[in-house]
Amino acid sequence: MLQLFSPAKINLFLRVLGKRPDGYHEIASLFQAIDLGDQLTLTFSTKDTLTCSNPDLPCGDSNLITKALMLFRRQTGLNTPVAIHLEKNIPTQAGLGGGSSNAATTLWGLNALHDFPFSEQELQTWSASIGSDVPFFFSKGTAYCIGRGEKVRDLLPLSLPSFSLIKPSVGLATPAIFQALKLQECSTLDPDQLLHDFMIGKHRFINDLEIPALRLCHSLAQIKEKHPTAFMTGSGSTMVILSGDTKPLHRKQGWY
Ligand code: C5P
Repeated sequence: MLQLFSPAKINLFLRVLGKRPDGYHEIASLFQAIDLGDQLTLTFSTKDTLTCSNPDLPCGDSNLITKALMLFRRQTGLNTPVAIHLEKNIPTQAGLGGGSSNAATTLWGLNALHDFPFSEQELQTWSASIGSDVPFFFSKGTAYCIGRGEKVRDLLPLSLPSFSLIKPSVGLATPAIFQALKLQECSTLDPDQLLHDFMIGKHRFINDLEIPALRLCHSLAQIKEKHPTAFMTGSGSTMVILSGDTKPLHRKQGWY
């Protein structure tokens, strides 16, 4: 039996650079894994099962854990049935990458159950077909992601102010936020410059998806009013509230 931590992420900045012919958007984003996370348990079994502590979460083919299992089978031909249980702590439709993290953790866990026949690099490459954010979860916890988000460059841990998260009860769907985005409303700041500045301690928490999200979700505007330095992570609806003092973020734990 394997018990694995499946961390959430926040986007310290997220720039949208343009729309691509395939319908995705070209982005450049600084991703950071955080201590909030789910717990995944994987065991070889007599038949495939997926259970979840949250009864509202669908455990069928649409669940990214199931997609990761099917992908692993297709790529490897390894078909031993597995029982997977998910203890869900990361809110959904929150911009925290919970489903993507679960998918990456499932791929990693299946490979571990079979005694690591494939490299993490291979798992990471396969994982991009599940979702744009999934490859990030094979990084060491701090990474610069470009393309549609699936091209991941590992970075050293950053020193960042401590923060807390506010998640309004309403969730936001990623496709809807990208659809509501107007490119002319995006920042014009160079993402490579933003990254360079972050590395020398100059933090500009910019998220181009925040304007469309604020348009669609009134509670986000209320949070912004109350906490002017708050910024949104991913496609929302979680807001990150900075609390001032600077201390290093933990690196991702519990994977290796
Ligand atoms: O890759 P993923 O399945 O997570 O993306 C969900 C949806 O979000 C896509 O179908 C697309 O509408 C939008 N998206 C986008 N540009 C990205 C990532 C996602 O337009 N870079």
